[in-house]
Amino acid sequence: MSTDIGQESWWSTIKDEAFIREPYGQLRAWLDQGPVHYDAPSDMYFVLGNREFAKLARSPKMGRDTRLWRNGWASPEAREQNPLAYQLFSEIQPQMINVNGADHQRMRGVFEEAFRPAAIAAMAPMIEAEASQLLDAMGEGGELDFIREYAAPLPLRVVCKLFDIPSDMDEPIRRWSAAMIRVLDVITTQEQRLEAMAALQEFKAYVRSLIAERRARPGNTMLDILVAANDQGTLSDDEAVMNLVSMLIAGHETTVSLIGNGLLSLLRYPEQLQRLRANRELVPGAVEESMRFEPGGNMILRVAIEDFPVADTVIPAGALVLGLIGAVNRDPAVFEDPDRFDVGRSSNPHFTFGAGAYTCLGAALARLEGKIAFNALLDRFDHIELAGEALWRLDRVNARSLQCLPVRLGRSA
Ligand code: HEM
Repeated sequence: MSTDIGQESWWSTIKDEAFIREPYGQLRAWLDQGPVHYDAPSDMYFVLGNREFAKLARSPKMGRDTRLWRNGWASPEAREQNPLAYQLFSEIQPQMINVNGADHQRMRGVFEEAFRPAAIAAMAPMIEAEASQLLDAMGEGGELDFIREYAAPLPLRVVCKLFDIPSDMDEPIRRWSAAMIRVLDVITTQEQRLEAMAALQEFKAYVRSLIAERRARPGNTMLDILVAANDQGTLSDDEAVMNLVSMLIAGHETTVSLIGNGLLSLLRYPEQLQRLRANRELVPGAVEESMRFEPGGNMILRVAIEDFPVADTVIPAGALVLGLIGAVNRDPAVFEDPDRFDVGRSSNPHFTFGAGAYTCLGAALARLEGKIAFNALLDRFDHIELAGEALWRLDRVNARSLQCLPVRLGRSA
């Protein structure tokens, strides 16, 4: 059943600090009202039901091109009201995640082979070496911020390695990504848009120089795949640059949340951590459960290309739809005891990687990184516990990630 309950705007609630801190109670209360909701004040549709999200996310009638969103950034009114936002969104537009149909397949097709699970599996030694280096730097352990020392640097280094980017670029890429990721958030200020625009220009200039250097000195990495597609005309210059910028952002920010949020869940439920220590075959399941329980991305968007019937609602063409993944992943119609964190969960159809044509291209890589990150940490330290309050970032709505995760690590003699 769809719901439209009077004046309360879900959109305002979603931006509340209390909701950002702990969204799950509210999400369940909303889901109990129905799997699909039209929020009249914001003119958006929210999907909370797992089965309904699956149907919608997998349908070719639902795209990701926000230029088709009738009241969105590309509408004449919005363009006049906020030219800076229009310019920003126009600049980031030419990439696979922002286009529909044949254009999407053309761009995604460039990378699909390189992201196959078998190709990704070959990266395990490289990821293990990076994890090991970070753990070496922790020495005997003690108290430290797990995000700063491990969860954040590991995925960034890994994605940079895919594109042959040297480690002295980690810091600028981290900074540009942090500024850029705000553009996609719903609580962006005009000042942050200006910062994002400056970061985007620097980021694009760097990526352009990377592509030009590689063209002069070819190699055998994902960067070469991108350059070849550009040379053959499969990707335009703008598309080559923006797909790479976006991959560098998407490829690390989300995986930081997988490792950070995942460890927090394990520390909040120490009996689950014990189970994992006792049986490492549970690690792949623990990675899935971490993503279900505390997904790093809270919202997955679609824009209706055609009218789309779901539950007892018809979502009209041009409407913006947001899948609220925190609800979708805890839908009691699909998950047994959904609020229980269970590393041994047998059926786990979460949607943290989205679904359908746009399913995360890097899912196999992220899963592998998660497995290696947890295994290497457990191998190195016998004792892992919270050493203070874990702080959620409150400045972002779309992404749910930790600012700080203080832990105490120790080894037996
Ligand atoms: C835990 C880590 C990750 C999460 C939670 C995540 C999540 C997502 C989500 C939700 C989408 C959109 C799916 C949809 O709309 O249905 C997506 C798309 C994408 N992701 Fe990831 N991602 C992760 C890691 C990565 C990594 C490591 C890479 C690459 C290095 C990557 C590259 C991409 C790309 C290129 C797309 C666009 C796919 C398309 O448009 O067809 N992601 N991801």
